[in-house]
Amino acid sequence: MPKSVNRQIILKRRPQGLPKSEDFDYREVPLQAPKDGQILLRNVYLSLDPAIRGWMDGREDSYQPPIPLGHIMRAVTIAEVVDSRNTNYSPGDFVMGLNGWEDYSISTGTGFINKIPADNQLPLPVYLSVLGTTGLTAYFGLLDVGKPQPGETVLVSAAAGAVGSVVGQIAKIKGCRTVGIAGSAEKCAQLVNTFSFDETIDYKSTDSLEMEIKRTCPDGIDVYFDNVGGGMLQAALNCLKDGARIVMCGAISTYNATEPVPGPANLWQLLVHNARLEGFIVSKYASQFPEGVSQLADWLRDGSIKHKEHIVPGLRNTSDAFLKLFSGENVGKLIVQMD
Ligand SMILES: NC(=O)c1ccc[n+]([C@@H]2O[C@H](COP(=O)([O-])OP(=O)(O)OC[C@H]3O[C@@H](n4cnc5c(N)ncnc54)[C@H](OP(=O)(O)O)[C@@H]3O)[C@@H](O)[C@H]2O)c1
Repeated sequence: MPKSVNRQIILKRRPQGLPKSEDFDYREVPLQAPKDGQILLRNVYLSLDPAIRGWMDGREDSYQPPIPLGHIMRAVTIAEVVDSRNTNYSPGDFVMGLNGWEDYSISTGTGFINKIPADNQLPLPVYLSVLGTTGLTAYFGLLDVGKPQPGETVLVSAAAGAVGSVVGQIAKIKGCRTVGIAGSAEKCAQLVNTFSFDETIDYKSTDSLEMEIKRTCPDGIDVYFDNVGGGMLQAALNCLKDGARIVMCGAISTYNATEPVPGPANLWQLLVHNARLEGFIVSKYASQFPEGVSQLADWLRDGSIKHKEHIVPGLRNTSDAFLKLFSGENVGKLIVQMD
């Protein structure tokens, strides 16, 4: 039975730099009943993604509108249908879709919402990690934008994170040599031991990232899967092989910047190496998601892809947990398990 109160975390003010607890507010509101065509969802797992930081800003020039001030923080969740006035959904169904930092969400059952198969064999959080937009970002970004070939060297930044760890494993499946950049010795050990990377770079303990990239990629980089942007992109640009591809997936080093971030000073390296830098948003591939999920699920089942979730309990811990993405305290997909 649903409770009568819905706990919510709302956006109180737009952050300057790294979000602070004062940027969020907590409230309890009476639970709404679904209207005709709607479903009532009990959120079970809540995905914390770097993109949420961008939605907290007031910018209108991104792929998603900003979260309005005073509104519920937005997130992809896994939820159970607890009441339905929509013939496509029944109580007991589990879905993954765009909802909010709250116990219960009302949905029309349209837009970004997918049913989780009733006979699913995998733990539910996997539908936010490898089988969610995270895994699909790695899959389509690497294979369609990066186009890795057997024997090529693939460099991945934020490699121990949710997207990066899947990128490295897919590159390995495709016969590539993989080099991962991460922010601690523990993460680098995990890159090798769990995610099968060939080489690692602990960027927090080196004076010259560029020298480390040259050491680990002595013949140059064929594909750079960039999750970080900024100085890391600049260092990678100086280590390209002819015909290299840079997959611009994210730029997490810039998301909390309070001043405009200068671009890499060496973009001209692209022309020197007949290289390509291409950005993408995973929703571009929405019509191909079933194909991606099916392949990723096969790789999970046969053990060629390992999944790693970092689960934090409790809605009230969500805003603190969110900051782990920027401090690097998360290993794998960062998820809140609702109370
Ligand atoms: N294009 C798309 O459609 C799409 C979709 C999903 C995600 N993304 C992007 O993919 C990237 C990874 O997202 P995710 O969900 O997988 O997050 P994640 O990698 O699980 O977590 C973020 C990681 O980034 C690293 N990091 C944070 N600040 C950094 C900095 N200043 N310099 C270097 N590394 C830093 C930290 O690892 P370390 O300990 O190694 O520093 C942290 O653990 C993000 O840029 C995100 O915006 C893009």
